[in-house]
Order: sequence, then C-alpha cells, then structure tokens
Amino acid sequence: MALVDLFPTTYYYAPLIKDARARARLVKEIRAEIPRIRDFDDAGRKWCEKNYPGGYTSYGSLSELHQFSSTFAELRAHIDDHVTRFALALEADLEQHTLGVTQMWANVMPQGVVHTGHLHPLSTISGTFYVDVPKASSGLKFEDPRLGLFMGSIPRKARTGPRSERYHVLRPTEGYVVLFESWLRHEVPPNPVRGERVSVSFNYNWF
Ligand SMILES: [Fe+2]
Repeated sequence: MALVDLFPTTYYYAPLIKDARARARLVKEIRAEIPRIRDFDDAGRKWCEKNYPGGYTSYGSLSELHQFSSTFAELRAHIDDHVTRFALALEADLEQHTLGVTQMWANVMPQGVVHTGHLHPLSTISGTFYVDVPKASSGLKFEDPRLGLFMGSIPRKARTGPRSERYHVLRPTEGYVVLFESWLRHEVPPNPVRGERVSVSFNYNWF
C-alpha cells in the first residue's frame, strides 16, 4: 500500500533567535518601541479608526518599519534567514530569484479586536513575529485552500491530526516567527482576553 501526500500546504514556525537571552532582549526592545510608534503615528491611528476598530496597526501608514529603526532592521535580518530556510524547504528556485522584504508593520490587538480572514495579494511569503501573546489570547487560524472544492467530501472526525484539518490554529509563543505562502488565507479571531496581543507582520516578494 502506498499513501502519497500531494500538494501540501506548509507553514514554518521557529524561535526568531536560538539563544533565549538574545531573543528575549530583542522582544523587549520591540515591545518598548511599538507603543512609541503608536503614539507618534497620528495617521495610522486615524486609519485604524475606520479599518481596524479598537486596535492599532501601522499597516496603513508606517509599513516599512525595517527602515524605521535599528531594532526593526535587526528583526528583519533574522527574518531574512528564516525566509531563506523556508523557501529552500519549499524547493523554491533561489538561483533564479531572490526574496526580499517589502513591508513590515506592527499590530496591537486589545480585547475583542479581530483580524478577519484574508490573504496577502501581490506578496510571496508573509509572516508574523510575536511580541506579546497573553495567555489564552487568539491564535493564528489557517484555512484549507481547497475549501471551495470539496464536493461530496466525507466529514472528518471532530478531532484529527493536522493533515486532515480544514482549519488549523497555531497558538504562538513570544519571540517566535511564523511564515507561510502569501496566498494562504488566515485570520486572527477576536482576542478574548484583556491583555494586548502584539505582533509584527511582514511581506516578502521575489525579485
Ligand atoms: Fe495576514
């Protein structure tokens, strides 16, 4: 008997820096910097009133944070290495093309704030670095990209392994980075806890 998995959907998840002390130091610096960015970013807070009710993101205003400060430049350098590793795991042709960051922005989700299902059009690899993840705050929910194609599909058991899930929820840890291909639809359900969930998201393109 042979079972062959075709067309897998793969995401990447790893500590940003292996050394826990170095990782905690960078998390601390970014955690301190994001509230300063939020205070400074009048245009961004205004943008969020309409587009991200209750939360803050610099996506609509300061979306190149890797060029904004040395802290975010350092973050970008680490993420570059992870993106390369992920691309190699996907068997991407890096001899023909290079991958480079195009956008990097901060997100703050207080209680009740949601980031509804979306993908990142025009990008290649997207991801998030986790800065503050209060206990029991929302995970990152991925959707099976074949969902619109299942005709006559047998319902799966309520509890399955990740291969048979129609949705998969990653419960991230502070200091970790997740990467996925930008076409993969995902969402962050409403944050159910009082603490602010803080992250930095980014897009990479191939050139
Ligand atoms: Fe996203």
